[in-house]
Amino acid sequence: NQSVEKAERIRACKGTRHVTLVTAYDYPTGRLLDEAGVDVVLVGDSVGMVQLGFPDTTHVTLDHMVHHVEATARGVKNALLVGDMPIHTYETVEDAVRTAGKLFRAGADAVKLEGGASQAEKIRAIVKAGIPVMGHIGLLPQKVLEEGGYRIKGKSAAEADALVKDVQAVAEAGACSVVVEGVTPSVARRITAHSPVPTLGIGSGAHTCDGDVVVIHDLVGAFPWFVPAFVKPRADVAGSMTTAVKEWMKDVYTEPGTAGS
Ligand code: KIV
Ligand code: NA
Repeated sequence: NQSVEKAERIRACKGTRHVTLVTAYDYPTGRLLDEAGVDVVLVGDSVGMVQLGFPDTTHVTLDHMVHHVEATARGVKNALLVGDMPIHTYETVEDAVRTAGKLFRAGADAVKLEGGASQAEKIRAIVKAGIPVMGHIGLLPQKVLEEGGYRIKGKSAAEADALVKDVQAVAEAGACSVVVEGVTPSVARRITAHSPVPTLGIGSGAHTCDGDVVVIHDLVGAFPWFVPAFVKPRADVAGSMTTAVKEWMKDVYTEPGTAGS
């Protein structure tokens, strides 16, 4: 199973090599990231916001995910292709295994689900079914409505201790790596020190984890209406597109009645 081998290669990076994860939602982006040498391509449920125009990830369905995983998978050869399990599709162990199977058949090498120790049984079952799993702890975007907003995790000692238990439970259940989102830098370092698998940080401080995660739109400036404070855009894709469209409109503009003259 080539997907399991790819996942094992990511797991083996712990303590040896920094891991990079970038999101993609379509064929050209997946192919560009793969050819650039990114380790992991994630078809995140962030697709809901940056591609589908929803206010948060709670509107994303399994059909959306399958559609975008299929497209992205056509462009990715070498990277580990991870597909997010959307909200309400892994409420039970049986649901979790069924959802993981659908994303795997759509072309994902691995699936990612949100939650720590409470999800260990589901992670174990998916891994047992032959599908690699990536964990996701800390700030969990699928809980945004439940929690009434996005808040940094790990500020209290109890929360920090729980996060360390979470990463250990997720790794123990068989996850090949774990996204650590929205955690204070000191706690992200502590989680990383206690994790037997690579931790992949986003919004958890610089140089605190075994690897780094970025949403492609944030990295290249393709979604100017919201840019997280922790990302430094490396390009201005939105600006380039606007300029190209405006220049083209000016170029092709023809006074009515003068075409062909
Ligand atoms: O959906 C997503 O893009 C994610 C990453 C931010 C980890 O889950
Ligand atoms: Na996600």
